[in-house]
Amino acid sequence: MTKGELLYEGKAKQVFATDDPALLIQRFKDDATAFDGTKKSSISDKGVVNNAISSQLLALVDKGGVKTHFVRQIDDREMLIRSLDMFLVEVVMRNVAAGSICRRYGTEEGITFAEPILELFYKSDPHHDPLMNREHVIQFGLCTAPQLDEIETSARRVNEILSEFFTSIGITLVDFKLEFGIAGGEIMLGDEISPDTCRLWDSETGKKLDKDRFRFDLGDVEGAYQEMLARVTAGSDGA
Ligand code: TMP
Ligand code: ASP
Repeated sequence: MTKGELLYEGKAKQVFATDDPALLIQRFKDDATAFDGTKKSSISDKGVVNNAISSQLLALVDKGGVKTHFVRQIDDREMLIRSLDMFLVEVVMRNVAAGSICRRYGTEEGITFAEPILELFYKSDPHHDPLMNREHVIQFGLCTAPQLDEIETSARRVNEILSEFFTSIGITLVDFKLEFGIAGGEIMLGDEISPDTCRLWDSETGKKLDKDRFRFDLGDVEGAYQEMLARVTAGSDGA
C-alpha cells in the first residue's frame, strides 16, 4: 500500500490517498481543539492512543454486525480505511446526561436516561454544528429518509455493542458521536471512536477519562488517555 497525497486535514486527523482509489489512510494527530476550535493545544501521544483505541473499537463494532470503514491498523498513528462519501450529519447517542444536553435543557449531569437518546447535528463549523431533527436532515438533503433510518438503527446497535464492552472494563459510556458515510451504495460507520468522541467515566469513582479533561482543564489529560488505552486493550485481548 503506497501512501499518496494529503487529501484533507481536519482538527485531529489527516487523510491521505493510496494507490487504490477505494482506500485511504487516516492519520491521527496530537492536536486537540474544543469549542469550535477556539481552544487549541496538543495532547502528547493522543494520536497514538486514539489510533489504537479506534482500531480496536471499530473492529469490535464490525464484529457486532455494523459495517465500518476500518480495514486495518497500519502503524502507531495510521489506519487503512475505505473511502466513504460522508453524510454531513453527526449522530450523538446519550446514555447519561452530560455536556450540551445539560446546557441546553438544564438537565442534571449524571442522570441516566430510561432509554438512550439519539440526537442529530448538522456538521457545519460556520453554523456551530446545530442540533437538527429528522425533518431538517431529510429536507435539507443531508441524506434520504431510508438512509437516516439505517443510520439510526446502526447508531443504536453501536451503542449496545460499545456499552457492553465498556461495562466489561469498568467504564460507563456516557455519550458518543458517530459519523456515517456511503461507498458502493453501502452505508458504513466512518471517522473514529476514541476518548475525543466519547464521554467515558470510571464506573466506580466517576472519574472522567475523556476529552472533557482537556475541554474543562481538569488536569492529567495524558494520563486519562493512557488509562483508556490500557483498559481497552486489556478488554479487547480478553474478548
Ligand atoms: P456534546 O455534549 O458536546 O453535544 O457532545 C456529545 C458527544 O459528542 C461527546 O461524547 C463528545 C462528542 N463530540 C465530538 O465528538 N465532537 C464534537 O465536536 C462535539 C461538540 C462533541
Ligand atoms: N473538536 C471540536 C472543536 O474543536 C469540539 C469538541 O470536541 O469539543 O470544535
